Amino acid sequence: MNVNFQKTILIVGGAGFIGSNFVHLIAEKYPQYRIIVLDALTYAGNLENLEDIQESLLFEKGDIADKNAVNRVFEKYRPELVVNFAAETHVDRSILGPQIFLETNVKGTHNLLEAAKNIGVERYVQVSTDEVYGDLGDCLPEEPLHYFTEKTPLDPNCPYAASKASADLFVRSYFETYGLPVLITRCTNNYGPFQYPEKLIPFFLFRAMRDEPLPVYGDGKNVRDWLYVKDHCEAIDLVLHKGRLGEVYNIGGHNEKTNLEITEILLEKLGKPKSLITFVEDRLAHDRRYAMDPTKMREELGWEPRHPFEEWIDETIEWYMKNQGWVERCAMRSEEFRKENYEGRG
Ligand code: NAD
Ligand code: DAU
Repeated sequence: MNVNFQKTILIVGGAGFIGSNFVHLIAEKYPQYRIIVLDALTYAGNLENLEDIQESLLFEKGDIADKNAVNRVFEKYRPELVVNFAAETHVDRSILGPQIFLETNVKGTHNLLEAAKNIGVERYVQVSTDEVYGDLGDCLPEEPLHYFTEKTPLDPNCPYAASKASADLFVRSYFETYGLPVLITRCTNNYGPFQYPEKLIPFFLFRAMRDEPLPVYGDGKNVRDWLYVKDHCEAIDLVLHKGRLGEVYNIGGHNEKTNLEITEILLEKLGKPKSLITFVEDRLAHDRRYAMDPTKMREELGWEPRHPFEEWIDETIEWYMKNQGWVERCAMRSEEFRKENYEGRG
C-alpha cells in the first residue's frame, strides 16, 4: 500500500452493493487515496465483494448506530472525504420491522454527521434515494410525463423512505446550522453485480434459474427507473469532487420500465417460460412510479449515464450466472427471511 497518501476517504457501507462498486471505482481511479471502509457487515454486507481489492483498503467493522464506534474510526483515520452508503435498504423489511431503519438510517447518519463535524471533514456525501419524493402515480396518456426534480417536496410513503428522508433533513440541517460541507445524492433503482438477491432483479434471476415462481406484486405495472450501478458510482464521484456544497443532486438515466417488463426481459434472456410469473398480494404503500429528472447532474457536472440498459442487463445476467456461489451464499439468508416473513406470497 502507498504510504504517501494525498487524502483519506472513508466509505461507510462499502461492503454492500453500491458501496462495494464505489470502492472499486475509487481504488482504480484514485490510487493516491487511502481508502477506509466502515461497515457493520449486516446480512447485506459482504467482504467477498471487496476480496479482489483487499490490498487497496483498510476495513473497520462497526455499527454506525454506535456513536463510540463511529467516533473511534473518525478519530483514528481523520478522513478528509466521507461517503455514506450504510443503510437498511429493503422496503419489504422496513414494512415488517421499521425500528432498525430508524436506528441505522436516522441515528446512524446523525452519528456520522456529529463525528464529521468534530474532526472537520472537507466533504461529506450522503447517498440517498428517489423514494424520499414519494409517488409520481400512474401517467395518463394525455398528460405530459412528470419527474422528480431537486425541488420536489419530500413525501415518503414507506418506513424505509421515511428514514432516508429524515436522514437527508439532518444532513441539510448540519449544513445550514454548522456549515458542515455536505452534499446529498438521490438516485433511482440500481442494477448490476453484488446486489443482494432480495431485490427484484437478482431475486428473480435466482428464482428463474431454478424454475421457481417469480412473485410479482399487485398488477406488476409499477414503474421504476433503472440505472447501471457504475453510472451511479461515477455520478457520486463527480458530486464528491465537484458538486456545490449544501446541494442535492438527482441521478437517473430515463430508463423507466414496469416490473412486468423487467420480469419478461429476464425470463426471455434466460429462455424461461412466462408461466413462472405469479401475481401475489401487493406491497403495502407500494409507490406506483418513480422517475428522475437528472438535468442538474448533466448541466452542472457534465454527467451522463454511459451504460445502456440493453447491453448492461446482459452483463448483469452473465455476472449472476457466473457467480452462483456468491448468490447462493447470500440467498440462503434471504430465502430464510422470506420463508419466515412472506409465507403464502410466492
Ligand atoms: P445494501 O443493502 O446492499 O448495503 C448496505 C450496506 O450498509 C451493507 O454493507 C451493510 O452491511 C451496511 N450497513 C447496514 N447497516 C449498517 C450499520 N448500522 N452500520 C454500518 N454499516 C451498515 O445497500 P445498497 O443497495 O448498496 O444501497 C446503498 C445506499 O444507496 C443506501 O443508502 C440506499 O438507501 C441508497 N440507494 C440504493 C439504491 C438501490 O437501488 N439499491 C438506489 C438509490 C439509493
Ligand atoms: O428507488 C430506489 C430504491 O430502489 C432504493 O432506495 C432501495 O434501497 C432499493 O431497494 C430499491 O427499492 P425498490 O422497492 O424499488 O426495489 P425492490 O427491488 O424491492 O423492488 C422493485 C420493484 O419490484 C418494486 O415495485 C416492488 C417489485 N417487486 C419486488 C420484489 C422483491 C416485486 O414485484 N416482487 C418482488 O419479489
